[in-house]
Amino acid sequence: MFIHYKEIWKQRIANAINALLAENGLPETVAASSVVVKIPPQSSMGDLGFPMFAYTKLLRKAPPQIAQSALEKLADSGASGGVKVMGPHVNIFLDRAETVLELLKESALREKGSFGKPETLKGARIMLEFSSPNTNKPLHLGHLRNDILGESISRILAACGADVRKVCIINDRGVHICKSMLAYQAYGEGKTPESERVKSDHFVGKWYVRFNQMSKEDPCVEEKAQDMLRKWEAGDEEVTALWKKMNEWAVAGMKETYKRTGVSFDAYYFESKTYLLGKDEIARGLEKGVFYKADDGAVMIDLSTEGLGEKALLRKDGTSIYITQDIGTAIFRHEDWAFDRLIYVVGSEQQHHFKTLFSILDKLGYEWAKNLYHLSYGMVNLPEGKMKSREGTVVDADDLLDSLKEMALQEIKGKEREEAVGNPDEIAEKVALGALHYYLLQVSAAKDMLFNPKESLSFNGNTGPYLQYMGARISSMLRKAALKDGALARPAAKPEMLSGDAEWEVVKTLLDYNSAIAAAAEKMDSSVVATYLYSLSKSFSKFYHDCPILNADNPDLVAARLALSEAALFVLKDALNLVGIPFLDVM
Ligand code: ARG
Repeated sequence: MFIHYKEIWKQRIANAINALLAENGLPETVAASSVVVKIPPQSSMGDLGFPMFAYTKLLRKAPPQIAQSALEKLADSGASGGVKVMGPHVNIFLDRAETVLELLKESALREKGSFGKPETLKGARIMLEFSSPNTNKPLHLGHLRNDILGESISRILAACGADVRKVCIINDRGVHICKSMLAYQAYGEGKTPESERVKSDHFVGKWYVRFNQMSKEDPCVEEKAQDMLRKWEAGDEEVTALWKKMNEWAVAGMKETYKRTGVSFDAYYFESKTYLLGKDEIARGLEKGVFYKADDGAVMIDLSTEGLGEKALLRKDGTSIYITQDIGTAIFRHEDWAFDRLIYVVGSEQQHHFKTLFSILDKLGYEWAKNLYHLSYGMVNLPEGKMKSREGTVVDADDLLDSLKEMALQEIKGKEREEAVGNPDEIAEKVALGALHYYLLQVSAAKDMLFNPKESLSFNGNTGPYLQYMGARISSMLRKAALKDGALARPAAKPEMLSGDAEWEVVKTLLDYNSAIAAAAEKMDSSVVATYLYSLSKSFSKFYHDCPILNADNPDLVAARLALSEAALFVLKDALNLVGIPFLDVM
């Protein structure tokens, strides 16, 4: 596997410091992993900078002096590349020719898809739960954020070698779906999504809205919905049949949206099957004394020492609560697929719930409870006045996708690119997804955000379409090269010719891909990859602007620059996939 140049230099710096420590008869040593590396503000100052502040206490010398002695040790070790002392720093100028050679050799491995792939999670079994909708309403903008967070983190973890299992729990049971059922029963007149030509989850959602109107006119219907839930629990035939039908509509519709956005799952769990799980566990916990029975008969846990307060786990009538089934489901999942880590992608309003859940599982003695993680994300809204959903409250996912697509199509038409792109409809759909996903992922998950459709679609700026456009530009150049008397077929015999500043920035950015993925995985933060993509596009754009590629005056230089462009295209494509942005070879 490719060892990152930063790691190599961290090790060399650690060796130098350790040699100085030994020379002074000091017993301490420093580990390469603890060495701090900074990127100098200007490339004229070097490619890497190592501040020496951390070693003043150990070596009892001022940082510039330490830097000077470290430099001598590095020179002794025969490390290639330039080394300079700059105040308290040791700065490194990488050997450009050697590095480029290394990069292009590595990128020749791209057929195997291993370029840039760290193996930091090799063998780890990670389960990710995301999306997890309720079946009374179609997916909304919040789900779009959730879905792409989950999908993207899954791909990033898998890129680091993890065995990832993506799961979704569909909350198909409860009073919410009974409400849609009740309204349908009263006013549905046997209508179906087909007869009304409405997407099936939207059809179900309409009845939920209708119920809310009914409830304003006659509050008694709330009680009727509860009655219906009791009938469902008792297995009432008519209720069960209607419940089944409406859930099928809801789920089928949602799956269409998942397909459209490129989101998929390895397994679906249904609350109707899991809602009784957890009850036995509560009984066991009661025996063990982890839980207690309140005066009214409810089963409780006291988590006040954890700062989480008291929490009911079973109601006084013995029925379960939201958390009861989450306890059971987690245990069931671990039996089903023994994970090392389980990540829940769920909104920040459920932080308390997940802290409580994890703490309870830990108290019940489950080893793996320490490896449960709530990837909490903030709210997402549209700027005031933009597009309201048909229900008037939340922004519907399908409607938003449709209007983004329409805006992208207008852009293509406006630029008279319809003919050039071949299939404007398909391209517009992909541009819409690129715009949406990049915009959502570029912000760290924890933050609340506004989604600005127009801004997300801008072709110049820090956007998905800008990245897609970069990919299309490189692709089109490579197509031209292929036509031009086999320029592409020429091997890059002299990669060391790529030593200009603009080329060098691209080379370094490509080499950073590996650590960008590893960092994104470690922080479980897709915005790291988004940021990486933007800097890759910027550095490539400068190279493209500054250096003639097909028209370079020396055939070896043409070949070398083409090889660099191909490597950049490979990394761009690969990274786009990690954040759910469709790649386009024309745009
Ligand atoms: N369907 C739930 C909701 O909309 C989210 C489920 C989250 N997952 C879980 N295991 N509790 O609020």
